[in-house]
Amino acid sequence: MKKILIAVAATAMIIPAVFANNFEKTDDSIEYRQAAFSLISYNFGDMGAMLKGQKPFDEATFSMRADNVAALSKLPHEGFIEGSDKGDTRALAKIWQDKADFDSKMKTFIDNAAALAVAAKTTDQRTIKKAFVNTGKSCKACHDGFRED
Ligand code: HEC
Repeated sequence: MKKILIAVAATAMIIPAVFANNFEKTDDSIEYRQAAFSLISYNFGDMGAMLKGQKPFDEATFSMRADNVAALSKLPHEGFIEGSDKGDTRALAKIWQDKADFDSKMKTFIDNAAALAVAAKTTDQRTIKKAFVNTGKSCKACHDGFRED
């Protein structure tokens, strides 16, 4: 058992080094993360419209969108490669100067999005709204410090 754990740990250490990312140019990584955020925004925005009563609340659609956001939340991080603060981007250089803070804000967002997908499976509007607001706060918390206005 111990041997297996060591083997797994060793593999886990090797894989990210080799497959850290597959971008050949920083521009490709910028496009990738922006595309991910656009998809996140589309799904998240529709959930917001339902919660604000701008359109009828549909449980199945809301839950599908929450699942989408939870899955998509894992994508943008990979696109923030070294040197990609230059180009057609609003990402601030601070991301790479303060990487630990950026990474932790990304993790909070991913965790909140996962919690929102769970909350969406309940029928309790208060639980759902709270989880939605938490997720929205984690978008803002990162944009405030790491994205150009
Ligand atoms: C940990 C940081 C972080 C989190 C969390 C985050 N964003 Fe962003 N977001 C950024 C950065 C940085 C950019 C700029 C990317 C670029 O221009 O290269 C961005 C860009 C965007 C864009 C513009 C994409 C484009 O086409 O240029 C949208 C829309 C967006 N974010 C929405 C959201 C929403 C909605 C959430 C939460 C549900 C969210 N973001 C969470 C950092 C974050």
